[in-house]
Amino acid sequence: MTAPTPLLRVVVLVSGRGSNLRAIAARAAAGELAVRIEAVVSDRADAGALEWARARGIPTSVLSPRNFPDREAYGRALGDIVESHAPQLVVLAGFMRILSDEFVLRFSGRMLNIHPSLLPRYAGLHTHRRALGAGDREHGASVHFVTPELDGGPVVLQARVPIVAGDDEASLAARVLREEHVIYPRCIGWFAAGRLAFRDGAAWLDGKRLDAPVVCGCETKEGA
Ligand code: GAR
Repeated sequence: MTAPTPLLRVVVLVSGRGSNLRAIAARAAAGELAVRIEAVVSDRADAGALEWARARGIPTSVLSPRNFPDREAYGRALGDIVESHAPQLVVLAGFMRILSDEFVLRFSGRMLNIHPSLLPRYAGLHTHRRALGAGDREHGASVHFVTPELDGGPVVLQARVPIVAGDDEASLAARVLREEHVIYPRCIGWFAAGRLAFRDGAAWLDGKRLDAPVVCGCETKEGA
């Protein structure tokens, strides 16, 4: 008999509805992802993700930046909340606030983000609008380690989707989001299995330095 794999302690940071949080939790509940969500932390009291987490008995915290003089002070308080749950991995899942360098360095090598573009294209906001405006023929999502450069840390895994005639921001965002729900749990699973690490400023998978991200094609079906 082999001992059961210990579950990786994860804290998830959210600002909104939390569909990525739910996708990760669903994989964990199905026994396909060896993580335990220790807490969900938000900068916004009205984030739908909080209600969802509370209904499942997952501890939640809200820390509004309004009560702090600057990004650094907010980052220290946020970091203390996150650290109090002793996470082995911090997962940014639609956390829409720029983090202080100090916060990022505190969780260096154990913090992932998902971003709705094929980084390094379209760091920042309005990625779908920008991809459409540029006339791109493909778009996608990236999972990356978080470093002080906004959306600039080493990318581990990307999903590409086509941009098709008649697409608007909403249709493209929905197509990308379906892929996010596939690649984020997958990447977190690699980290939980000890296959993925951050070293010397780079991502390493199975002991090899990733000089380019792993790319997967569009796996979900429209309307599925
Ligand atoms: C996702 O599309 C995620 O990639 C994006 O916010 C959305 C959150 O959705 N994140 C960013 O833009 C970060 N720069 P969700 O709350 O349903 O997971």
